[in-house]
Amino acid sequence: MKDMTKSNLQSAYSGESQAHMRYKIWAEKAAKDGFANVARLFKAISLSEQKHATAHFMALKNEVGSASDVAGAGFGYGPTAQNVQIALGGEEFEIAEMYPVYKATAELQEEKAAIKSFGRALEAEKVHAELYRKALTATESGKDVELGTMWVCPECGYTFEGEAPDICPLCKAKRETFAVFA
Ligand SMILES: [Fe+2]
Ligand SMILES: [Fe+2]
Repeated sequence: MKDMTKSNLQSAYSGESQAHMRYKIWAEKAAKDGFANVARLFKAISLSEQKHATAHFMALKNEVGSASDVAGAGFGYGPTAQNVQIALGGEEFEIAEMYPVYKATAELQEEKAAIKSFGRALEAEKVHAELYRKALTATESGKDVELGTMWVCPECGYTFEGEAPDICPLCKAKRETFAVFA
């Protein structure tokens, strides 16, 4: 694999792994703060980030050995509105800069597995940002967010709120396989 795509995959793996963990921590905090739906949202998106980390890791499966990698990450354990704000900032960065640049680099370098895993993550992050935006508006005024059933595709991490389609629009996995957060 070409060096730049390899290091971008490692960085994305690291960033998604940390997001997975951070959202779990913030889910527990949201539950403590009395925001049951924000807690459910963090839990669902945490699973989605785990699936992205896994996809990036698998795209690297033939790159055996150890490496140090650097990834952007949000920190802080504050009131839930602050945690949602940091989460939203991370998603927006991934949508506006990180994944488009990583994907374009992978395309230039003709790295097919990376193009796929970056592209799928990018689409899911758009849904995450939209839901966090809604959660931010609610929590800033001290309210829990209104949230329908949450669905996460186990193959690619695509995330839905409300009524899920019969097949995943990104990877074609069947609805019966989706993780449900109701
Ligand atoms: Fe995300
Ligand atoms: Fe999928």
